[in-house]
Amino acid sequence: MDWGLKNRISQIIKPHNNRALMLAVDHGYFLGPTEKLENPKKVIAPLLKYCDSLMVTRGVQRTCVPATTDTPMVLRVSGGSSIIGEDLSQEEITVSIQDAIRLNASALAMSIFVGSKYEHQTIVNLGKLVSKAEKYGIPVLAVTAVGKELGKDSRYLSLACRIAAEQGAHIVKTYYCENFEKVVQSCPVPIIVAGGKKIPERDALQLTYNSIKSGAVGVDMGRNIWQSEHPIAMIKAVRSIVHGNANVDQAYNLYKKIVNEDPKKKNKSNKPQNKPNQNKSNKPQNKPNQTKK
Ligand code: 5RP
Repeated sequence: MDWGLKNRISQIIKPHNNRALMLAVDHGYFLGPTEKLENPKKVIAPLLKYCDSLMVTRGVQRTCVPATTDTPMVLRVSGGSSIIGEDLSQEEITVSIQDAIRLNASALAMSIFVGSKYEHQTIVNLGKLVSKAEKYGIPVLAVTAVGKELGKDSRYLSLACRIAAEQGAHIVKTYYCENFEKVVQSCPVPIIVAGGKKIPERDALQLTYNSIKSGAVGVDMGRNIWQSEHPIAMIKAVRSIVHGNANVDQAYNLYKKIVNEDPKKKNKSNKPQNKPNQNKSNKPQNKPNQTKK
């Protein structure tokens, strides 16, 4: 393996412990301004120092990430479909290798849609991207997409991950499932696990822990960090598992401790509460949960 390629991989998967914490903020490339990522600059700024690398599109990298950062960028280079379009699997490579170099990408990321209508196109695109990127010593992270019609069990994910590795992907990102060891064992390159939809914080920490115990090098987590009420506490807790070998209880206790120390939370609880007899009009007040749709 060439020095440049090795060096870039070691920026993403830390060589001292073979672990990786990637923060995913690329969702807008097909979801638009998805919940709690409406303003990527605000989301990214406080979290950047806690992740090993950032998974991002070129538009958000240029407009929302300070060029002075020393956090490596994993640049999403595939796209072409939207959540309201006909078929999410119809992706092409949308970023040239020259632009990726200008953006100082530490790795390129693209999705493959194994078992979908456009699987051929996306798998061939992966092979071509690996050939181009390797010329410049840039590793490729293949994302094995899952969708309604695609499976999410170890049989399907083993197939998808292995196909990605056979095409030359240097790292594969996939989803956690039962018997995840099987997926890891049959994939000859490092596997990093996506967080998936927002779930309770403790469950997301459990997913992180299980992924690593099953052989993944780490997580590429998005929604379960920035859709949390406490994104900094959450990324620190995830980090304690990935890099601090914390167990789930330890990580969750850390999360709760940071939340309790949060001055914003203290201010909220110190605010005087409206007492019922302060309602001079005698009109019935809406309870908070009655006003919610
Ligand atoms: C979207 C992606 C995301 O980066 C990936 O799904 C990780 O984010 P999350 O933890 O929110 O699932 O590749 O296609």
